[in-house]
Amino acid sequence: MKAKITATAKYLPKNTLTNLDLEKMVDTSDEWILSRTGIEKRHLVSNGEATSDMCKEVALELLKKSNKNPDEIDLILVATSTPDVPVVSTAALVQDKIGAKNAWGYDIVAACTGFVYAMETGAKLVESGKYKNVIVIGADTMSSIIDYTDRNTCVIFGDGGGGVLLEPSDDDCGVLDSILLADGSGHKYLTVPAGGSLRPASKETIDKKMHYVYQDGKAVFKFAVKNMADVSKEILDKNNIEGKDLKLFIPHQANKRIIDAAARRCGLSEKQVLVNINKYGNTTAGTIPIALDDAVEAKMLEKNDIVLFAAFGGGFTWGSMLIKWS
Ligand code: UT7
Repeated sequence: MKAKITATAKYLPKNTLTNLDLEKMVDTSDEWILSRTGIEKRHLVSNGEATSDMCKEVALELLKKSNKNPDEIDLILVATSTPDVPVVSTAALVQDKIGAKNAWGYDIVAACTGFVYAMETGAKLVESGKYKNVIVIGADTMSSIIDYTDRNTCVIFGDGGGGVLLEPSDDDCGVLDSILLADGSGHKYLTVPAGGSLRPASKETIDKKMHYVYQDGKAVFKFAVKNMADVSKEILDKNNIEGKDLKLFIPHQANKRIIDAAARRCGLSEKQVLVNINKYGNTTAGTIPIALDDAVEAKMLEKNDIVLFAAFGGGFTWGSMLIKWS
């Protein structure tokens, strides 16, 4: 038995930050950001709005679209690197906020690959036969860990989240295959250095701005271009699927140039690739489910279409997943 996606949803906070806004904050330009990343604007939470609030909106939308009551949900998985608080999972807060009194759940931390990791976990738990209605969300409040005086990072990231409802499939549609990988030796290239057990918050860590994202952009770029392309091609080859047979490639939206490299490697045309980085920036675990919901809203998918997800992120983590649309 496979696990299939029966509903999709997304939530983007109301506030936006454009490249022109950023020009007034750091030494950058609309031209530089657009040509190097493909980003035009990103959404940011309001004061007091946290990751669980975005996830709540996603979960409520999933319930509405699938005509389900909160008490029918068995499990809530939230992929995030920006939980509301260090102790208490975002999933537990979402369970409470939507009144899913029969659900349990937990968070999955795999940076930008988080949603694909969470989909693997959710799909396997549905396939076990024990869980029938599983909410899988990817969401991040990147603005809570971004230094808006650092032009290396502040132009890239945005806030937002998306998710899916997974249910048992009664045919051969659903999650077909996945390849998930990690190489923790890459941890130093993309991280938040303090705030965990290694360097608990202190005056020193705050003074040194160690609670913000640190990124070696060039190293991450090099890693991503090779590995997201490789893992996308590998899963197609493994399943005897040619690029032309793929309906839609939904890659992690980190940089348009990284997406183009992966699409080229798989022999895909422009219309086979979902790109929305221009509107939302990099929402970390949010990018793939947000893009999937954009595709569903635009009626780009029909039953039996083959869809490919691929992601990479801090860790390093990376992976791909093939879905037969239901
Ligand atoms: O989900 C995973 C998240 N992270 C990523 O995916 C990051 C992957 N890396 C990237 O996307 C790219 O490396 C960046 C977008 C971060 C940077 O683009 P790049 O083409 O690799 O630029 P660069 O680091 O090679 O910098 C080129 C120049 C440098 O100036 P000089 O030394 O040539 O004078 C930078 O100082 O651009 C400068 N620069 C900027 N200029 C204007 C760096 N950031 C900016 C900026 N605005 N925001």
